[in-house]
Order: sequence, then C-alpha cells, then structure tokens
Amino acid sequence: MEGKDRTEAILDIAKRRGFFWQNSLIHGAMAGFYDYAHLGCLLKNKWQNLWEDFFVGMDDNFYEISVCHIMPEHVFKASGHLASFVDPVVRCRKCGNTERADHIIEDNLKENFEGASLEKMTEIIKEHNIRCPKCKGPLEETGILNMMFPLNVGTGEEVRKGYLSPETAQGAYINFKLEFECLRRKLPMGLAIIGKAYRNEISPRNVLIRMREFTQAELQIFFDPDAITEHPKFHEVEDYVLRVFPAKNRESRKIDEITCKDVVKVLGMPKFYVYHMAKIQQFYLDVLKLPKELFRFRQLTDEEKAFYNKYHWDIELSLESLGGFKEVAGLHYRTDHDLAGHQKVSGESMEINIDGKKFIPHVLELSFGVDRNIYALFELALAEEQVKEEERTVMRFPRIVSPLDAGIFPLVNKDGLQEKAREIQNLLKDRGFVVFYDESGSIGRRYRRIDEIGVAAGITVDYDSLQHNDVTLRDRDSMKQIRVKIQDLPEVLKKFLNGEDLGELGKPLKQ
Ligand code: GAP
Repeated sequence: MEGKDRTEAILDIAKRRGFFWQNSLIHGAMAGFYDYAHLGCLLKNKWQNLWEDFFVGMDDNFYEISVCHIMPEHVFKASGHLASFVDPVVRCRKCGNTERADHIIEDNLKENFEGASLEKMTEIIKEHNIRCPKCKGPLEETGILNMMFPLNVGTGEEVRKGYLSPETAQGAYINFKLEFECLRRKLPMGLAIIGKAYRNEISPRNVLIRMREFTQAELQIFFDPDAITEHPKFHEVEDYVLRVFPAKNRESRKIDEITCKDVVKVLGMPKFYVYHMAKIQQFYLDVLKLPKELFRFRQLTDEEKAFYNKYHWDIELSLESLGGFKEVAGLHYRTDHDLAGHQKVSGESMEINIDGKKFIPHVLELSFGVDRNIYALFELALAEEQVKEEERTVMRFPRIVSPLDAGIFPLVNKDGLQEKAREIQNLLKDRGFVVFYDESGSIGRRYRRIDEIGVAAGITVDYDSLQHNDVTLRDRDSMKQIRVKIQDLPEVLKKFLNGEDLGELGKPLKQ
C-alpha cells in the first residue's frame, strides 16, 4: 500500500479506532488543526514520557519547565521572529489563491527547494510555467508572509500586542536568568519544554506533518561557548557510528556511516554537538528500536539553515508514502543569538559570571516535533498481511510506545474465566501497566482488534489458567504465544515491552 492509499488507510484507522481526527469537525474543520482521541493521547503521552526520561535524564542539571503560549511582542522582536520568521509565498493573479512557493515547486518538480532565494523561486516558476493548482492561472512574483498568529491582549488603554509562540524555545530563553540563579549558577544547564507551537502555515499538509497548532518537545542546553570542542562523556560515543547525509553528498545522495570521532575530524563538527547527535540517534535506534536504514542526519546548507543557527542538522526518517526522508527533529547550535537578542530588547543583562569569567552562554537546541514523530510511527507501523484465509491489519508500533500495553481476554464468558481475567487486569494495573479488558466476540476477533490499534501483547485466560495459574501471552507481530505463570507476568511483560524476543521469555506453543 503506497502514497495516498496509505495515508487514507492511516486516517481511516485513526478516526474509526480513536487516535486522532480534525478539530471542530461538526462545524467544518479548519486545515492544520487536529485533536488526539483516547488512543492517540495514550500513544503521544508514551512518546513524550520516553523523550523526557531519555533527554532530560542526560544530565543532573537538566529540568523540565512549563511556560505560557501567549507572549508579548517584545519576545519575538528579540528572537528575530518578527522580522525573519517568514515563508515564501506566491499569489495567483486570477483567483487570488496563495500557496507556499517552495511547496508548489516541489509538487511540480519533485525536488526540495526549501531555503532557496525568492528570486530563484520566481525564476523556477517562470521557467517551468508552474501555474495555480486551483484555477491554472498565472502566478505573481514570490513574496513573504510572517507565520505568527498575532493577538490583542487586554482591552482599551491596557491593550498589548502579543503572539502565540511559534516555538517552545523562547519560553526557556526568557526564563534563563531566573533558572540560572535557582539552579545555583552551573553550566551546562538544560531547560526542556513539551508544549504547543503555533504557525499560520500557508499550506498545512500531510495530516500531522505540517499543522498550524502542534506540539514540540525541545531541550535548550545553555553552555560556555569555549567548551564546545569538548564533552565530558564524548569518550562514551567516540566509536559510535552515525548515519549522516552531509551537504557535500547532495548529488551522490549517499548516506555515510561514520564514527562520532570522524564526524569531528572529517566533517569539522565540534564534540559538544556530535555527542548530542549520538544521543539523538540512540533515542531512535535503541529506545524506539527503529531500523537504522530509516534514519539519517541531514546537514543543512547556509541557505537552508534557520535564521538563528550556526550549525543545523535535521533528523529525518524515511517515510516512503510521503516520498522518502522527512524531517522530524533538528539539532540546532543557536549560539547566543536568542539571549543576546533578549538582552538588547529588554535591557536586562543576560551575561553570567563563572569564576570571574563573564559571558553570555550559548545554546544547543534539541528540537522535536511530537506530532510529526507520532505520524511517522503510523507510517512505519501500518502493515496489511494475509493470515491463512484472512487479511489482517496490524500496527507494528514499537512495543514501548504501543498505546496500550496489553489486552486481557477470558477465552469464554463462563466458569470463572471472566473473574480470573479481571484479577489479572487489576494485578497489571497495580504494577503500572496500561491494560484493557475485552470479553466480546471470538478470541480471533479480539486479537484482530488489538492488532489494528497496535497493542503489543494479548493475554488470554483459559481453563488451564484456573488449574495451573498461568496464561497465554501472544506477540502482536509474530502471533506466537508462550505460557506464563501469573506471578511472573508483570516481569515477563515488562521485558517483552522493552524489546525482548518472545522466544527468550518462554517456549513458543505449537499453533
Ligand atoms: N525551536 C526550533 C524550531 O522550532 P523548527 O525546525 O521550526 O525549529 C522543530 O521546528 C520541529 O518542529 C521540526 O523538526 C518539526 O518536527 C516540527 N514542526 C515544525 N513545523 C511544524 C508544523 N507546521 N507542523 C508539525 N510539526 C512541525
């Protein structure tokens, strides 16, 4: 199943089973706004918890904070968003339809032109006679549009201009000085925020990939710029192999597999930056256990980099039905761009003094789009397979993020099997697992239901369970089953969800 069909299939499951759907459907939805339903919320929370444990857990001086989404205009004057957070746009001379210039070119030429100059885009549109996708009318020259949502805060004389924040990052910068004092003036200091970002995208598209309101998980690491060439734990990753797509490989399209040591030596990236590349790759390959072929770091050229970055590599996952590798996160060396900007506009010094050395800290930002990552999981997980006479749809989510840890089923609804199954449900709930109980329909149908929503494990209670105090544990992906003593179930389930093979946890039953 490819392209549009795959997207349709994901949308169908998402809506039918309760993962996500467009906001305000009963009133006519606006493009680029989605609500997460009950299963979607479970999945998203699991991803966010893993992200937080892994990245905030990297250092004792890293913490999560929670900030406002509406901020005064001065914040965005200081950050540069007011002047520079713009998208290239073209308007149709005939019908007035406005499109993002680089998107309309990409749709026609199947090539990425993000970051190209306005003149270049106008030239390409002319050269290839690209016309309005709605009415086929001619297009005007490429212009720009600021992507922030403006707001009036308060009334009358008190009114102040504000904006919905287009990134969570600014919340960390405006709180830097206060936190630095609270955290006893130590660097590196990390402030993580999982929160909403708002952008008036001209053409929201690809479901959760380009939205107008979305969730970001961002970690801002404040550090001494003189320390960028070192990281105290670099030795732990120096021989770790990264999958990189440097800008020099654009023509050959070759992904290099090179050690962190060599990324420093050959590609000239500083150790502090490369250490965090390694951690990000480990998050995708070791925590989420995605196949390495689907992952790469893509280096952005000077034209493509965000206006605040000195070094900028995107993290991309290969999403075939969206045409190949797509950005899901970024590693940004923002220098002192933001703190210096806030100092200039607010008049408040952002300089710190450590052992007599005065300086404005620099920032390394690990920036993840949560919804994009969630959509990528759907893209990578969806499979349709033939099982004997039947077609089965299965969401092969990484076990560790599957929305529910296990479904619990009494084989039949009599002779005490329901009570036993409820007992097991309570046991697992008490141990912190997210489980659900289902007694309706044949056992085959119940398995199909949990397969379709990507629940990693099925636990069946049968007559033997009453006699021997054990249950069947079924693996969603291989459909193999093992027998597990009820007293061992929490431990075995934990190992299974952490990625251990079913075969290592018990002897597969003959089926
Ligand atoms: N603080 C830096 C920053 O916001 P960005 O590259 O603009 O950088 C970071 O965004 C991440 O947020 C992206 O890698 C992407 O995953 C996600 N993202 C950006 N725009 C988005 C949109 N319109 N809809 C969904 N996710 C988006």
